[in-house]
Amino acid sequence: MKKDWDFVQFKKEFYEFTGLDLDRYKDKQMERRIGQLVNREGYDGLHSFFKALKSSNELLHKFYNYLTINTSIFFRDTKIYDYLQNSAMVDLLNKFNRLKIWSMGCSHGEEPYTIALILDQLSSLHRAEITASDIDDKALEMAREARYNLNQLEKVPPELLKSAFEQKNGFYYLAPAYKKAVTFKKHNLLAPIYDNMPSMQMILCRNVFIYFKIDVQEWIVEEVSKKISPGGYLIIGCAEFINKPERYQLERVIPSIYKKLK
Ligand SMILES: C[S@@+](CC[C@H](N)C(=O)[O-])C[C@H]1O[C@@H](n2cnc3c(N)ncnc32)[C@H](O)[C@@H]1O
Repeated sequence: MKKDWDFVQFKKEFYEFTGLDLDRYKDKQMERRIGQLVNREGYDGLHSFFKALKSSNELLHKFYNYLTINTSIFFRDTKIYDYLQNSAMVDLLNKFNRLKIWSMGCSHGEEPYTIALILDQLSSLHRAEITASDIDDKALEMAREARYNLNQLEKVPPELLKSAFEQKNGFYYLAPAYKKAVTFKKHNLLAPIYDNMPSMQMILCRNVFIYFKIDVQEWIVEEVSKKISPGGYLIIGCAEFINKPERYQLERVIPSIYKKLK
């Protein structure tokens, strides 16, 4: 009988299929967790699981969820968004006519849409170009649809919930003005950032690089910070940390928020 694939072969085939190198994620429990997922989903091994991944975006989405636990909510981490709204964004709007903002690893759009809501509160949505990216096609499809359940909106201030969402059939639909303000595209954080990409005034890369090995995390911070213009901001997750930020011309303003020096 043909022996099933081992994890090394699975990683190799997965890389050829998606361009995502699983070796760059922290791997302590990954093999065990993926094994559990394979069993739970009723596949008899890694080979048949891989075949199913190739033919189902839903399963691929589940798998990406598994790698990075892709839950997200609007206004996740109140302190951070308060600071963005009351300080960082105001600072940027005073310095730049137009803002380019990028949310990397944006999941179902909760983060970039929160930025759009904040900018609108500051009457400046028209001055910003917001890009949001993720590796997961299904997550991007859901982000473009912008249909949420109440759990994902629990931190949205009640007035804003009323004015920015339409409630229909038990779901909340984000108003078109905010949907139009964000452009979603597929991007793998492990791929180099486009050389010809313009500088950003703010990059959010939150609750995603924690899942990568330390040297990969450092490479991402280096790549990303090169794309932030002086005076711009890099926002990371509350459980994430940049060691010696001055290596990347970054200064920590408050935990999770860094400012580019030059
Ligand atoms: C935990 S969510 C973070 C969502 C949002 N940034 C937040 O903080 O609420 C992590 C997201 O990273 C995405 N992701 C994982 N690996 C990635 C990669 N190599 N490139 C781009 N996105 C990736 C996942 O698909 C998932 O949507």
